[in-house]
Amino acid sequence: MEERLQKIRDEALKAIPEIKSQEEWEALRIKYLGRKGILPELLKQMGSLPAELRPRIGQLANAVKKEIETALNTRQVRVPSGRQAAPKTDITLPGRFIPPGKLHPITQITSEVCDIFERLGFAMAEGPDVELDYYNFEALNIPRDHPARDMQDTFYISENVLLRTHTSPIQVRTMERQRPPLRIIAPGKVYRCDSDITHTPMFHQVEGFMVDKGVSFADLKGLLTIFVHQIFDEQTSLRFRPSFFPFTEPSAEIDILCVICRGSGCRVCSQTGWLEVMGAGMVDPEVFRMVGYDPEEVTGLAFGMGIERIAMLKYGIDDIRLFYENNLRFLKQF
Ligand code: FA5
Repeated sequence: MEERLQKIRDEALKAIPEIKSQEEWEALRIKYLGRKGILPELLKQMGSLPAELRPRIGQLANAVKKEIETALNTRQVRVPSGRQAAPKTDITLPGRFIPPGKLHPITQITSEVCDIFERLGFAMAEGPDVELDYYNFEALNIPRDHPARDMQDTFYISENVLLRTHTSPIQVRTMERQRPPLRIIAPGKVYRCDSDITHTPMFHQVEGFMVDKGVSFADLKGLLTIFVHQIFDEQTSLRFRPSFFPFTEPSAEIDILCVICRGSGCRVCSQTGWLEVMGAGMVDPEVFRMVGYDPEEVTGLAFGMGIERIAMLKYGIDDIRLFYENNLRFLKQF
């Protein structure tokens, strides 16, 4: 029995270093240690040995078993494959693409507009979307029964509280807090009960105003021409059309030559060849009086532009509602 155990040990320890695959490893394990393997089968015969031999042979059998196990385990580490091995990584495969998030085109244009004015020395300001009637209308020289209120279909929350219809209330709020000279640029959402291919009930405006001694309409024209040439290009045509706003005098609306039809007339520009992008003018002395400025001492220019209109012209989009339908195929283009 002792000799047989030694022989089994020598055979196994000789065969184990020759193992070349996981399959061979498993076959050897089963051959020597498996339930019906050589060693367990031999141990079953222990019962037939004389009682005085049993402890010594038992000890030897256990030692041989341990030795074979250790040799197999050591060898297993060096032959990784199949179930035990870590999955192979093919480092030549391309990585999984995680699409990056992007800013909405309206957010992108808003930043571009504000950047241009910040480079011209304007500082950013903000105001609330839910506004008081006083700031949205009265302080802007639009009293309760003024017909100009009809120009902006208003969403009222209560008699004195509404969703702001334009960003111009930020003019009043800023002037109440600060003294001239001022150069402010103020982006924000505005709301009007209005919807067609160039109007949405919620849209974005950027308000700009400048108050100082000796600010003139020439400054307004120069500033807005520089702006239009920077946001579009030097070749872009713009025109100042006389208009009316109760809070500016004189007032103008600024049109850009329609980039979609290049001026020949299309549904976006209502066949006129031009698209209105902003209102502007010189701050009305009445607005200065409301905030405690002396209209004899300072003058101011102000403008308010529709960001969606600028984006439509810049990207050649012929329906403003596309910006708010959350169609990924549309949004991914920006
Ligand atoms: C105003 O809102 C004035 N507060 C602008 C202003 C500011 C004038 C400072 C003078 C001094 P208006 O209602 O025209 O003006 O709107 C300004 C721009 O917002 C328009 O030229 C247009 O580009 C855009 N706009 C107006 N209504 C909508 C709408 N429903 N959807 C998308 N854009 C709109």
